[in-house]
Amino acid sequence: MSTERISPTAYYTGHVWCRNGLSHPSLDTREGDLFFLALRPLMRAGRALTGGVALEEMLVQRHLIIDHLLSTAIESGRVGQVLEIAAGLSGRGLRFARKYGDRGLVYVEGDLPGMAAQKRSRLARAGLDQPNHHVVALDILKDDGPGSVGGATAGLFDHKKGIAVITEGLLSYFDTPTTEGLWRRLAAFVAPFQDDVYLSDLHLGARANVPAVAVFLRMLGVFARGRIHMHFAQARDVAPALARQGFAHVTVHRPVDWQARLSLPGTGGLEVVQVLEATTRLDERSK
Ligand SMILES: C[S@@+](CC[C@H](N)C(=O)[O-])C[C@H]1O[C@@H](n2cnc3c(N)ncnc32)[C@H](O)[C@@H]1O
Repeated sequence: MSTERISPTAYYTGHVWCRNGLSHPSLDTREGDLFFLALRPLMRAGRALTGGVALEEMLVQRHLIIDHLLSTAIESGRVGQVLEIAAGLSGRGLRFARKYGDRGLVYVEGDLPGMAAQKRSRLARAGLDQPNHHVVALDILKDDGPGSVGGATAGLFDHKKGIAVITEGLLSYFDTPTTEGLWRRLAAFVAPFQDDVYLSDLHLGARANVPAVAVFLRMLGVFARGRIHMHFAQARDVAPALARQGFAHVTVHRPVDWQARLSLPGTGGLEVVQVLEATTRLDERSK
């Protein structure tokens, strides 16, 4: 199954990372700028119905919550390396590799070959290469061989350290069996490491029949040029599903829980995104 149709969405999100001071202009594209302008009227109309939450607010909410949870995992010493899957034109790798370079952090971004090549050349042209920051061609739907999560990252990570794995802006394009397969692959990938943290955005479906939520989903569907999958109705359904794939502890973070601490935009409006934090380690509670 090729999932390349999803790649253009990374131009839009790349533009939003930049507009919000979370990236570098070299990762902002003309395509992203045009895409953003074209969808602006739809977003403006949507905001009126959702209490001020359109794609941009939703993206910034998930970016800032994941950034915060990742910083916490690094600063506590729990993880010393990061794999950001489906990174697109995310500005996180650039910022984190720079901020935590002195601590020896290794940051690897993976995406489909075309997007990975584009990101590598954009970073190189802007003189932003860092020795601890890598961009690799990786298809998370591959089980093994070159380009699978193990094949693409061979030699880049140290099993004696903890690892954080991120999938942001990816799961809602995949149906539930595909998402479960992805989680199974990730649980197997992190097994040899000293410790692991998995971070991802998630959309819970319980309120999908609320008219304002339906409007938001329509906006998301236009953006994604395809169906958006809601894998779970309620937060309480998430942990058992991850447990079946090998993740022992799961927390579902809601924007409202972090709104004051992280100054999140749009949190008075509709809740349309959550962030999932999980680990395969059984001894999580002792940390
Ligand atoms: C909505 S963008 C999200 C980009 C970035 N994570 C962000 O939040 O800005 C989705 C990304 O998923 C990537 N992608 C799609 N299918 C993939 C796959 N099978 N393996 C790895 N990346 C994939 C696309 O190329 C695209 O960069």
